[in-house]
Amino acid sequence: MLSLDDVHVHFGKLHILQGVSLEVKSGESVALLGRNGVGKTTTLRAIMGLAARGRGKVEFDGEDLGRCEAHHVPRKGIGYVPQGRGIFPNLSVYENLCIGLPGKSDTDLEEYVFMRFPRLRERLQQAGGTLSGGEQQMLAIARCLMMKPKLIILDEPTEGIAPKLVSDIRREIHRINQTGVSILLVEQNVETALKLCQRVFIMEKGTVVHSGSAHDLKTQPEIVHRYLGLSL
Ligand SMILES: Nc1ncnc2c1ncn2[C@@H]1O[C@H](COP(=O)(O)OP(=O)(O)O)[C@@H](O)[C@H]1O
Ligand SMILES: [Mg+2]
Repeated sequence: MLSLDDVHVHFGKLHILQGVSLEVKSGESVALLGRNGVGKTTTLRAIMGLAARGRGKVEFDGEDLGRCEAHHVPRKGIGYVPQGRGIFPNLSVYENLCIGLPGKSDTDLEEYVFMRFPRLRERLQQAGGTLSGGEQQMLAIARCLMMKPKLIILDEPTEGIAPKLVSDIRREIHRINQTGVSILLVEQNVETALKLCQRVFIMEKGTVVHSGSAHDLKTQPEIVHRYLGLSL
């Protein structure tokens, strides 16, 4: 469904992505792991057309996204929940949910938002910026679901969020995947990533240095230690 083949990104003289290749199959949930600064966010931005790509190819559902401008990528069926969430602080929760969606219906709101994140129902008229971090994350995910994506890309969705809401968010990511939506998840918490995802890619210095099943990685603590500096 999604494949990156030897993708490069330069920022000025800095060669940040040095040939990233990875794949997400239909219905799969995949984790992208790696220490801070290895290029995970840049990889996601390259997929979304938000970082200028050099050499390499990004394909989604057999279509080359190389010439696809950033604002067209979501319409192809890829939802993106950026690191830091990207909520419009001065718009209401309702406006945040419906932005860019002329065809939205109350059924969609019910199915994609309230059934998953009931906390948002009571806060529809509240300004996005007044929500807690966890609620903003829920809003960002719900907004993505309203576009009925085939794949959702999430960049550290539980970063800096109250523990009480972290488990709600994780549970919903799992449920979204169970409805057939593919997931590409950047996550600092390796144990969470291994629970939520079937397959794992680990990055170091702008390239993928390990790929394999989540199940196998659990039996290879030396790899987790070498690339993530953690013990399982
Ligand atoms: N717009 C930018 N201009 C210059 N350097 C950048 C820019 N965005 C990211 N970088 C650099 O690229 C590297 C990878 O960043 P990033 O993809 O955010 O890493 P990660 O998400 O894995 O923590 C870092 O060294 C970062 O400083
Ligand atoms: Mg990042």
